[in-house]
Amino acid sequence: MTSYKELGLVNTREMFAKAVKGGYAIGAFNFNNMEQMQAIVQACVETKSPVILQVSRGARDYANINLLRNMARGVVEYAHELGCDIPIVLHLDHGDSFETCKDCIDNGFSSVMIDGSSLPYEENVALTKKVVEYAHQFDVTVEGELGVLAGIEDEVSAAVSHYTKPEEVEDFVSKTGVDSLAISVGTSHGAYKFTPEQCTRNADGVLVPPELRFDILAEVEKRLPGFPIVLHGSSSVPQEYVKMINEYGGKLKDSVGIPEEQLRKAAKSAVCKINIDSDGRLAMTGTIRKIFAEKPSEFDPRKYLGPAREALKKMYMHKNIDVLGSAGHALD
Ligand code: G3H
Ligand code: 13P
Ligand code: ZN
Repeated sequence: MTSYKELGLVNTREMFAKAVKGGYAIGAFNFNNMEQMQAIVQACVETKSPVILQVSRGARDYANINLLRNMARGVVEYAHELGCDIPIVLHLDHGDSFETCKDCIDNGFSSVMIDGSSLPYEENVALTKKVVEYAHQFDVTVEGELGVLAGIEDEVSAAVSHYTKPEEVEDFVSKTGVDSLAISVGTSHGAYKFTPEQCTRNADGVLVPPELRFDILAEVEKRLPGFPIVLHGSSSVPQEYVKMINEYGGKLKDSVGIPEEQLRKAAKSAVCKINIDSDGRLAMTGTIRKIFAEKPSEFDPRKYLGPAREALKKMYMHKNIDVLGSAGHALD
């Protein structure tokens, strides 16, 4: 058993309390490898933002749990070396069973998500409660979910979304004891969130998707005052990277993500954790494709992974400063 405290990590409790009070959200950025991890930490140190390093089940299989634990220790030391001891959470994204959550808790994670959102309500309550009871013995915080997001990723899939029912949230939180709650208000997983046909054009000709259900968010907030709310599926699908991928041999379909202004609005409310994965994938892939096309004789991985890491860092800094509002809050 390795406690996250030995690794220098923190849980989400204090971080979320400050974020809810301060009207900002913390970036929960998925990572699978060293370059992604470096980009996240460099960006968050530079903007002085607290951060949640997020590991999906797919990433856990890809990267190995022992390596991940030691990478997390390294991340804490790296942030210190870069000049700012930002609070860092190591979080399991979309845990699907008690066993997966327990394994992460026993291996140095400071926070876990148990995603029982596709189960019948009472089963979701029972599973989430079981994880909370185990996690809290070790001061690990737990995220639960009510409502289903649409979207297809390697390990997370649902054809259609079901909005969170606000009338269930108080009962769920009091029965399970969760520390934060992910809700479904119109975001979805992956790079294909809205087709152009589902959008309207604004005065500048920009495609705008249907607005998130801020009415549901407001109702949830009314029923759970000050309680930390989480938004999954919050990539904005930057069109510059979609274009770059397609210009250099990729074949992505047209797609529109969650507008950054809407995420900014959500971050000012009880939403204090915003999950972003797909935007990082797009930035990395676009940059690497461009280098492969422009420098076909290059075969040193540092020559394409290095620029991809720079593009990622720039993107995370932009998220922290302009979207989440977390910049400057690391040492609150
Ligand atoms: O919500 C899902 C994340 O984007 C992780 O995706 O399972 O492909 O690692 P993954
Ligand atoms: P995106 O696919 O919109 O980046 O969402 C990621 C996510 O919710 C991870 O849990
Ligand atoms: Zn998610």
